[in-house]
Amino acid sequence: MSVAASSPWPALVEDARRYPSPHNSQPIKLRPRDDRTATLYYDLDLGLPAESFGIPFAHVCAGVFLETFRVVARAAGFDVRETLDHAEMDFDGADRLHRFADVELRPIELTDAQRVEAGAALDRLRSRRTSRRPYLSRSVPGEVIGGVERICEAAGHTFRHTNDRDLVRKIVRVNQATLFDDLENDAVYAEIMEWLRFSKREALERSDGLSAEAMLMPGRILRYAMAHRGLWRAPVVGSAIRAIYLRTMRGVHELAWIEGPFDGPADYIEAGRTFMRTWLELHRQGVVLHPFGTVITNPRSHALFAEAAGAREGDGRMAWMLFRIGYSAYPPLAHRRSAASMLLPTPSVSAEGDPR
Ligand SMILES: Cc1cc2nc3c(=O)[nH]c(=O)nc-3n(C[C@H](O)[C@H](O)[C@H](O)COP(=O)(O)O)c2cc1C
Repeated sequence: MSVAASSPWPALVEDARRYPSPHNSQPIKLRPRDDRTATLYYDLDLGLPAESFGIPFAHVCAGVFLETFRVVARAAGFDVRETLDHAEMDFDGADRLHRFADVELRPIELTDAQRVEAGAALDRLRSRRTSRRPYLSRSVPGEVIGGVERICEAAGHTFRHTNDRDLVRKIVRVNQATLFDDLENDAVYAEIMEWLRFSKREALERSDGLSAEAMLMPGRILRYAMAHRGLWRAPVVGSAIRAIYLRTMRGVHELAWIEGPFDGPADYIEAGRTFMRTWLELHRQGVVLHPFGTVITNPRSHALFAEAAGAREGDGRMAWMLFRIGYSAYPPLAHRRSAASMLLPTPSVSAEGDPR
């Protein structure tokens, strides 16, 4: 059954589809039940399970979406009541839609000031982008750091950051080495290839994935280099390709990471929510960021980073997200698939009243 014309869902999804996802794979789907309730799914065919921490990151992405959805719903005059399902995701199962939450929209009365702030929060959600552009050599001021420290602390996490030159250089090298390492792993390589979009046209037509433009790489060179991954190891051509990739990492002045509980789906979802709150607060302050998620999901890189940063891990706690922060020119747009492609049909109700 299609969604009724009076339904709030299409308009909500129109904005909610701007949530960021690893490789821009956009795995979240929403099935309206009626005008107030819907079920949220993670589409396992759009997941990235090749890396050992790729599976936890699916729940992190669900958390990122829930926070995004909360902002969108509030601007439309709703609070969101969530009923979460913390089951593990089974990427090998026959059912390709993993249900992770039911949500209910509850109308709220906002004061004028609250309405203005909710509208501004929605505008910020619309304009947020990952920046892989060169960052200025300017540190993020202490009061801005204080704001995100408080956001993380309120969720039981710790926001840490450094602009120590040697440490930044060391961790950036780990991030660079991650791609080279990932290219050697057949499953991870195949996953990356599925999501790279080499021309502007391809990026727009498919409206998902990582475009060469967003990655600041010439599409033709990226296509050639990725199709011949053995070349990355070759002496002359290999160093030329590496040099082009490394250029995209210019101007990393300050790094930040978040440590906290990361021991099962409930933690992963809350981590994702905290990450999105942090990102939106930094954006509110004019600070851009670039997640180095692959450093976390690649076990070797993660160990190197955690040691260099002196991350406090163990007992279910982990440094679960790393990113560069700072100031850059406004980055290129990463396209999104249509709102319609995120909406699943509402189940029809049989004569006995069972939803089908
Ligand atoms: C949990 C998470 C992990 C991410 N990891 C990486 C990463 O390792 N490298 C990278 O370049 N971008 C990473 N990203 C950024 C996504 O690629 C980006 O959000 C997506 O392409 C959409 O672009 P936008 O943020 O500009 O809307 C990550 C995003 C999320 C939410």
